[in-house]
Amino acid sequence: MGLLKKLFGGGEAKFVEVAPFGSRYEVPSGETMLEAALKNGVPFPHNCTVGTCGSCKCKLKSGRVSALTDFGYTLSQQEIAAGFILACQAIPKDALTQVEVESQALDAPKAESFKGRIAATETLTHDIVRITVALDRPIRFVAGQYANLKYAGLERARNYSFADAPDRDGRSEVSFFIRKVPNGAFTEALFKGELDQLPLEVEGPHGNFHLHPGTSPMICIAGGSGLAPLLSVLEAARKDRVKRPCAFLFGARTQADLYGLDQIQQIANNWAGTFVFLPVLSHEPADSSWTGARGLVTQFIPDALPGVALNDAEGYMCGPPGMIDAGIASMTEYGVKLDAIYYDKFTDQSHIAKMP
Ligand code: FES
Repeated sequence: MGLLKKLFGGGEAKFVEVAPFGSRYEVPSGETMLEAALKNGVPFPHNCTVGTCGSCKCKLKSGRVSALTDFGYTLSQQEIAAGFILACQAIPKDALTQVEVESQALDAPKAESFKGRIAATETLTHDIVRITVALDRPIRFVAGQYANLKYAGLERARNYSFADAPDRDGRSEVSFFIRKVPNGAFTEALFKGELDQLPLEVEGPHGNFHLHPGTSPMICIAGGSGLAPLLSVLEAARKDRVKRPCAFLFGARTQADLYGLDQIQQIANNWAGTFVFLPVLSHEPADSSWTGARGLVTQFIPDALPGVALNDAEGYMCGPPGMIDAGIASMTEYGVKLDAIYYDKFTDQSHIAKMP
């Protein structure tokens, strides 16, 4: 990677301007647009820094860049066609490159480090557990954001989305959904309830996924442990008496993989406007008792909100990359504007637990 950076770098000084911050900084030879931004104190959204999470996605307004790794590994075809790039993989080629980042969550509380301990664990499915972490002081965050969890023995922090709605004064207890890793000592122990009271460090909040203000209908899609940030967003919106029509599609493999249904039902029952909830199973045995929707969750986007034109809708998706890419393709096909689709990809490097 270092050699690639040197090959792409070099020559005249290269500057980057980032809207809407109005920041302008030089990118030294061999550095990516993101590396130089962070060294210059520019609050460029980022997470993995290795081109897999999509957090540093920005729109190229002018100038050309070289890609250390193909943007197409993480960005959808629609995003690339619309001019989006990944700053952590972009080496500027021209004297001036102008990019624009999405900025609406940048007034989120500043990230801090909190001491915590696992106060409770609850098995949600055969491979997802909810942990509740008691903190040494309240944490404030925006619904949809995530935190880094660190504990003794883990080489590097793992990211998990807050599964609860935030509280104006901060939350002293927060919960996260953690997926079990086969033969992973930490998650196996977690599932056995052996890690209660384990000290953890919670660092955050981070992330740019959040509900954008407005009155547009919402098409929300969750897959796997991607339910956490959407539960946080929807519960916060319910508390705020948001009246927007909302369809919530939850994709799972089988009935055994569905969870959080009571909580979703509570949100649906108390939503101020129309709320449609549709669980969709992709691998449920044909002869089972399931009478609900079957197939890929993204197939149900066009009819998710009967009678509502999707060209005014916003998309909110959290889950595996394949589901999100299919969701972007389907939503844009049926009229949702690309810049009205917001997502949080749960990649190996971000949210999906790969604990030892
Ligand atoms: S920070 Fe660039 S893709 Fe994750």
